Amino acid sequence: MCGIIGYVGHRPAKEILLSGLRKLEYRGYDSAGISLVEGDEIRSVRAVGNLDHLEAALSGALESGRVATLAPPATVGIGHTRWATHGRVNEANAHPHFDTSNRVHVVVNGIVENYVELRERLVADGAVFSSETDAEVIAQLLASHYDGDLAAAVGLTLAELDGSFSFVALCLDEPDLLVAARRESPLVVGCGSDESFVASAVPAFLADTRSVRYIESGEIVLLRAGSVEIRDATGAVVERELVEIDWDEETAEKGGYETFMLKEIYEQADGLAETLGDRTVRGNGVDLADEGAFDEAILEGVQRVVIVACGTAYHAGLVGRYAIEEWARLPVDVDVASEYQYRNPIVGPGDLVIGISQSGESFDTLAAMRLARARGARVIALTNSMGSQATRDADAALYTRAGLEIGVAATKTFTCQLAAVYLLALRLAELRGTLPAARIAELVLALRRLPQLVDELLAGVEPSVAAVLDWCWDADFFLYMGRHVGVPVALEGSLKLKEISYISTDAYPAGEMKHGPIALLDESTPVVAIATDSPLLTKVISNIQEVRARGARVIAITTAGDTTVAQHVEATIEVPATDEMLVPLLAVIPLQLLAYRIAIRRGLNPDQPRNLAKTVTVE
Ligand code: F6R
Repeated sequence: MCGIIGYVGHRPAKEILLSGLRKLEYRGYDSAGISLVEGDEIRSVRAVGNLDHLEAALSGALESGRVATLAPPATVGIGHTRWATHGRVNEANAHPHFDTSNRVHVVVNGIVENYVELRERLVADGAVFSSETDAEVIAQLLASHYDGDLAAAVGLTLAELDGSFSFVALCLDEPDLLVAARRESPLVVGCGSDESFVASAVPAFLADTRSVRYIESGEIVLLRAGSVEIRDATGAVVERELVEIDWDEETAEKGGYETFMLKEIYEQADGLAETLGDRTVRGNGVDLADEGAFDEAILEGVQRVVIVACGTAYHAGLVGRYAIEEWARLPVDVDVASEYQYRNPIVGPGDLVIGISQSGESFDTLAAMRLARARGARVIALTNSMGSQATRDADAALYTRAGLEIGVAATKTFTCQLAAVYLLALRLAELRGTLPAARIAELVLALRRLPQLVDELLAGVEPSVAAVLDWCWDADFFLYMGRHVGVPVALEGSLKLKEISYISTDAYPAGEMKHGPIALLDESTPVVAIATDSPLLTKVISNIQEVRARGARVIAITTAGDTTVAQHVEATIEVPATDEMLVPLLAVIPLQLLAYRIAIRRGLNPDQPRNLAKTVTVE
């Protein structure tokens, strides 16, 4: 998965492409490149590494004359930031890719599944490939079909490609035109004044225009400085409404924090207030009726809930299972989306399938949602991304309102996902009459207090996190454990630490420890125990004693005011008291900070962990 951008207009394209790519870097950052129409040539500069390396390469190229410095500067170009799928990370495999005659350049996001056979055929016809990528076949195919009409060549090329992808193409013979296309992978067009943008995501051009047109799968779009023309697969022109984006561009900046991840951890109260605010007002109940993309009829007559998601979103789903089963008394299955789609799941009418995905673009989650919908289930997209693919593949969308999350590790989007699943669980309980009105009112009140509790927690928690850092930051292995809703918290804390600090971690239900994992422990192992107030706390304390008897040192997440747990552990980190079911939303925050502080102490950049990308749009 990668970020792609194209610009055609009247301003210098290089700066516009670079600043757009910065906004897309969350999609991948192992290499990057741009191509610009410079007089009678298309010139390309590519570099391994993140965009700083591309900028450095561009200055080098400018000095050596590889990119023209003479006025007027290029006003048409394409750019790419890569997350490798096919082909190693090197300059030759970085995009843009071009055909043998260097007249057609493309940037591609996604995967061309039949690229091997296409490549063999093109080579037999005389094409000379310069990379190992699947993406290069698109450039070569376009050139092979080109007969003076780039849009026609794109149409013919699309018909030969299998896979899911989007791309933007540029041809020297039509230097004022960009042609883009998408099959499943995202693509959105920005319409400025006498300038047009196309990119994988809106933030890439938000600083320049807020007027967008979403491109549907299978469509081709022709972009010129003053016009945008969308065509369907048959070549017929399609009218598409212009959508005005009202996001705040500020949300994409670091706002004074040293990293996006830290900023996003500290933004959690705001995101929660937004996500919960107007949905927790009606008669002390939950109100989802005013949601633009959400018809409450979808919740009627449900017999079973299935939650599909990946990674952190899957952990939110696990919490959702406890809440929906407890409050709405509906059976809930939670599945890792990449597994769900391949086990011929039993799903159909009567099932409510919730796809949780902050990006709304995770390939596996989308595939699981589509499968369930095709079998007759009702599907909700629970996402942070307005108009994302998930919302278009679902019957209804319920938005988290966390704002843009740039840090690769999910933080604020996770807590907002929890808030949204709590809302859904409560609304289902209301509709099914499974909770007394007084209990619903109590829970709604508890939900409404969460933003304030998160603020209080963040205002005071750093010293307790700092107090454990000295003795645990260089450990080789961490183990996380909990019971009940503490299990998904343990899983999420463990994932946060491993993905940004590269420390090996594991997470288990505390009751499972003695069935195997306890063998891993010795004096060097920090164990993080979720030991907040609950009817199971005494059992968690017993499990803590078991691990301490093996020499492990325990950091316990406890409820403010608790004095019992402290007697059994090396350190406690307190979170404010709340309803037992809502504890994950608070208990995960010290774990996010612990992972963050350890990563920083180890000299790592938590915003861009190695081998990862923010949005996984490939299988
Ligand atoms: C971990 C993380 C990932 C995502 C996962 C799903 O911090 O961010 O595990 O949660 O890739 O992504 P979305 O929610 O966009 O479907």
